[in-house]
Amino acid sequence: MCKSPLHSFLLSLPKCEHHIHLEGALTPQLVFDLASKNNIPLPDLPHYQSPEALAARYAVFNSLDDFLNIHYANMSVLITEDDFYELAWSYFLAAHADGVHHAEVFFDPQSHTSRDIPIASVIKGYKRALDRAEAELCVTSQLIMCFLRHLPVSSAHTTFDSATEFINDGTIHAVGLDSSEVGFRPELFTDVFSKAKEAGLRRTAHGGEEGDVSYITGALDALDAERIDHGIRLIEDPELLKDIAVRGTLLTICPLSNVYLRTTKSVASLPLREFLEAGVQFSLNSDDPAYFGGGILNNYCAVEEAFGFSVDEWRRIAIAGVQGSWIDDTRKRVLLEKIDDMPESDLSPNA
Ligand code: HPA
Ligand code: ZN
Repeated sequence: MCKSPLHSFLLSLPKCEHHIHLEGALTPQLVFDLASKNNIPLPDLPHYQSPEALAARYAVFNSLDDFLNIHYANMSVLITEDDFYELAWSYFLAAHADGVHHAEVFFDPQSHTSRDIPIASVIKGYKRALDRAEAELCVTSQLIMCFLRHLPVSSAHTTFDSATEFINDGTIHAVGLDSSEVGFRPELFTDVFSKAKEAGLRRTAHGGEEGDVSYITGALDALDAERIDHGIRLIEDPELLKDIAVRGTLLTICPLSNVYLRTTKSVASLPLREFLEAGVQFSLNSDDPAYFGGGILNNYCAVEEAFGFSVDEWRRIAIAGVQGSWIDDTRKRVLLEKIDDMPESDLSPNA
């Protein structure tokens, strides 16, 4: 719990999450539990001696790639459809407790198919958790299939083709692009993104996390991306910033991730005030909650402690999250009404 007088307001504020990698919800404890259940040897390294040692290693990530190497190694414990289900269900329980009402969640099929796990095990396990979250927690959600940009483009095409059944039946709603950014330009993935658009899928891409603003323009122009994941380096290009504000393109910002991966010095150094004032739409997200200091509420609290936003500014952020979600107008109206109806008791007297 944060020290802000707005804490209970932030907890109750209806949230949409747009930037969460389901594999990034794999906690150190679950890594060890699944390794033991599935008989998977963990690397013979000091930080794999215990869940606590692994968690301690996360405090000293020095770059995106430093994190990704451990993130991909940890995923080796995910084997069965039930493993994927259990992982996603643990995310939805935590997100629901944090006040998430709608989540658009990433997954990385290539991290699993490269280990000979069938794509159907991954998607069916995740989908079961999404369906249960809607039925039991009233949390709606969409699945976003990401391509790993450090792998050959041909692998992205193979992945897209192998997911045809789940694209055609609506299980997969969108495509995304993640993993190491610098040197793996969005333009490489133009053809597979245009195939996705033809198939009726929405499109988003990581950009401007470690890469410069040309990775953002590349995602918009070459991939026809409708959202930019991270996008914090947009602040370096005032003309593009104005353009993105006019277009209404949503940035899915992950404040604690940026601090853990050293793409910003501190939450207070993020250009959130500038984005708000310029009318750039953004949502706040957890990215990889098992690695970067917890879920979406911790990110909201860290932002409040750094910026001291007013209740009205928080309502604007929550509304941008609803408007930028890939949901129909009826669901949007329900969520907007929930934001409007926030009970007065959730507002501290000093707010
Ligand atoms: N950036 C790129 N790829 C990722 C990230 C991220 O922040 N998290 C998980 N995969
Ligand atoms: Zn991410």
